[in-house]
Amino acid sequence: MPETLTIALAKGRILDETLPLLARAGIEPSDDLNTSRKLVFSTNQPTINLVLIRSADVPTYVQYGAADIGIAGKDVLLEHGGEGLYERLDLKIARCRLVTAGIVGKPVPRGRLKVATKYPEITRQYFLEKGQQVELIKLYGSMELAPIVGLADLIVDLVDTGNTLKANGLVAIDHIVDISSRLIVNRASLKMKNQAVKELVEKFEQAVAEPSA
Ligand code: PRP
Repeated sequence: MPETLTIALAKGRILDETLPLLARAGIEPSDDLNTSRKLVFSTNQPTINLVLIRSADVPTYVQYGAADIGIAGKDVLLEHGGEGLYERLDLKIARCRLVTAGIVGKPVPRGRLKVATKYPEITRQYFLEKGQQVELIKLYGSMELAPIVGLADLIVDLVDTGNTLKANGLVAIDHIVDISSRLIVNRASLKMKNQAVKELVEKFEQAVAEPSA
């Protein structure tokens, strides 16, 4: 019996770049992932299923083996910590940067800073390494609003074009890390379904190397 693999995909922006990569790897979902309300999808490959979830949940599904493989941003992987999974391949899609940002022209205050972010672990670690005391304010989106309304001195957020920062009178201050999507594999699946995982990883390696249309 050929082994079945489940791949966890992230909803949202990252999906637009994931679908062409999947296609280049020879995987076509049975339904339109952008419009369907389903969460589980079969594909043109009888041994490959997809699940579609929130991006921050992808590492958790793969960690516990609910999915054998996942496609997740380096940001959510760093935040998750990587327990129970291997980061196997840089897919070189959904590239952006994680930065600190504040209000244009406003000096960063001395002393304990208030920092708003949806990445508390990365942020804690970053400021710990700098030896800077911070109060973390956990948000779930639209971080750019926090300095404008005085909720925070700084934000830690993803920047792609820089348009969102600019539109809100903010500027990137420090570059924390470059981000792209990664292929992750459950540790047990790598052992128990070694052949199937290996073949799939090779397909993705080829898809990454192929220039996109
Ligand atoms: C992301 C990120 C920034 C924005 C950056 O937010 O958090 O807000 O995109 O992109 P830009 O530099 O090209 O403007 P997203 O739209 O994913 O929503 P979120 O606020 O819910 O995180």
